[in-house]
Order: sequence, then structure tokens, then C-alpha cells
Amino acid sequence: MIVLGIETSCDETGICFLEIEKEKIKIKSNLISSQVKFHEKYGGVYPFLAKRLHEKNLPFLFERAKKEAKIKKIDLVAVTTRPGLEPCLWQGFNFGKEISKKEKIPLVGVNHLEAHVLINFFEKKILGEKIRKFLPGLCLVVSGGHTNLFLMKEIGHYQSLGKTRDDAVGECQDKIGRLLGFSYPAGPKISAFLKKKKGNFLKIALPRPMINQKNFDFSFSGLKTAVFYEVQKRKKISLREKLGILREMFFSIRDVLIAKTERAIKIFQPKSLLLGGGVIRDDFLRKEFKKLEKKEKIKVFIPQKENCTDNALMVAFAGYLRFQNHLPNLRISAKEDI
Ligand code: KG4
Ligand code: ZN
Repeated sequence: MIVLGIETSCDETGICFLEIEKEKIKIKSNLISSQVKFHEKYGGVYPFLAKRLHEKNLPFLFERAKKEAKIKKIDLVAVTTRPGLEPCLWQGFNFGKEISKKEKIPLVGVNHLEAHVLINFFEKKILGEKIRKFLPGLCLVVSGGHTNLFLMKEIGHYQSLGKTRDDAVGECQDKIGRLLGFSYPAGPKISAFLKKKKGNFLKIALPRPMINQKNFDFSFSGLKTAVFYEVQKRKKISLREKLGILREMFFSIRDVLIAKTERAIKIFQPKSLLLGGGVIRDDFLRKEFKKLEKKEKIKVFIPQKENCTDNALMVAFAGYLRFQNHLPNLRISAKEDI
């Protein structure tokens, strides 16, 4: 069957055609149009501009992908329906609905967070019954909009363990980065900066918010405020200070994410750990999480970098799994996560 995936929950417009026949699975076309340069001057995503850009990009990307995929018919439409920026979600949903009506084919609503972690099974070609071997899976999505820890009991059956009470990790990094002169999105730029600039750095201690609390919630606004004070008390930030602050910010984020994940592994004894989300592109975090494989004796799935950030391939695959498992359709909901 041919599955069309549509992603418009935030600032990436994505269209993907996926061909799936039993155990065989092939990407026919996977296109993404990033809006980053349009939002840069606002220092974050401006929802109504994002909606207008999705509206403009969707038909164009769809036609290009159809040509590239050389497909004659579509069998299923999968579209992100939650969580996300509401005007953006509607844009993708209405576009998908039109196609599903015209072609008389089913439309499946997909949860953006499940798509971020299910992509791991796609990459390793783990399909059908084979997925069961890795469930329950502990899932951690770390992105610009989300920091969520949840259990995947079955596909489509999730138990939320915890989430951020304020800023998501990506949002916190982007805001701290902005304060230190990095344009939006700052996450990848800080990551590259720390990799390149070694040497003398300021030793500084930043908080590890909620690390000792016996729950699975997160909070990163305190970390942002702590950096704000460090910057404010100095007239000018030297390279040595910038390096020290950013290094320590990364360590703080790493410590909190790993501590909560390890605690969840010990309590819930999952068969696998599934990661996802844009922040997981960072090499330092990837290495740190991979260490848990030996330490906690658990299979750790980390998506390839290009599949960590928002894309339509993850939506097409998650939609196919929902359809195959006869799961209920998910309606649009901006806030409802897992
Ligand atoms: O998953 P995603 O594309 O969108 C959301 O669903 O939010 O994640 C975007 C976030 C941004 O905050 C961006 O700064 C961060 O992912 N990001 C990174 C890296 N690449 C993207 N953060 C750290 N290191 C990276 N290499
Ligand atoms: Zn995302």
C-alpha cells in the first residue's frame, strides 16, 4: 500500500510517500520545507505565519513528491493531529481530508510524539509482531516544543509518566542561545560551537531542576533564569565565559534527562528505550544515552539525525501502524500530548 504522510504541527512542512508491502518498506519520496529563516527575526515560531507558509507549501510539495514517487494511487492518508500549533494542525488536516475525500481512502490522525519515537522501528525495519519484543518501551521525546517521558505499552497505548511544567529543553536552549548571540534555532548552533571551541572555559555551577524529585516531570525555566543572571551580572561575555555557561547548560540538561530516564527504567523495567525529537540530534546527548545500553542492560533506540527533527516520514509510518492496528482516529487537539 502507498501511505501519504503530512506533517504541519510546527514550522516544518513535510510530505512523504511510503510504500509498504508486508515486511517490505520503501520511501518513495520524503520532502521537507523548513520555515526557519522566516521565523528567525521573531526569535521563535510565529504561529499564524507558520500556518500561512504551510498553506502555501503543501500543494507545491505534494505535487513535487507525487512526481518524484511516480505513484498512481494513494491508499491511506496519515496526518499529525496533536499536539502542535492549532492553526498549523488544521492546515495539514484539511489538506489531507481533501485528498482522502477525493480518492475515497481512509485518513488517520497521528500523535506527533508517538511518530517521533516509532521512527526507530522504521529505521531498524522492525515491523508487525516483531515490535512486541521491544514493548513496553520507555519513550523520551526532547524537542523545541516537548519534553515528555512515557511508556509505550502497545502501539497506540501510552502511559504518560512526566513532562515539562514550563519550557521544553529545545525552547530553553534556544532562549539561552539567543541571550548569548545565537540566532533561532540556537540548539544546533550551540552544539556545533561546543564541539569546535575547546580550551579554557569558565567553571560555573548551574542548577539541575527537579533532579531529586521522585516524579518524572521536568522544569527548565529555572535553568534559563540562572543563565540570565550570570549574563546580567557581567558587562560583556568573553569567549571563556560563553563556553563555560553553555557547557554547563548542556551538562545540566544531560544530568536531568538521564537521571529521570534511569529512574523510570528501574521502576518500570521496560524492554527498550526509544528516543526522539530535535534535541536528540546533539552528539553529546546521543553518546550519553547510548551508554545506558550497557549500564542499564536495555536496548536503546536513537533515530538517525535527519529523523530526529520534524518530518513526514515518521507521520506516514506511525499512521500505517495505527491503521494496521485498527486504532481510533485522533482528532485535532493542540495541547493533548500522550
Ligand atoms: O523535533 P523538532 O524539530 O520540533 C519540535 O517538535 O519542537 O525540534 C526542534 C528543536 C529546536 O529547539 C532546536 O534547537 C533543537 O531541536 N535542535 C538541537 C539540535 N538540532 C535541533 N538541539 C541541540 N543540538 C542539535 N544538534
Ligand atoms: Zn517534533
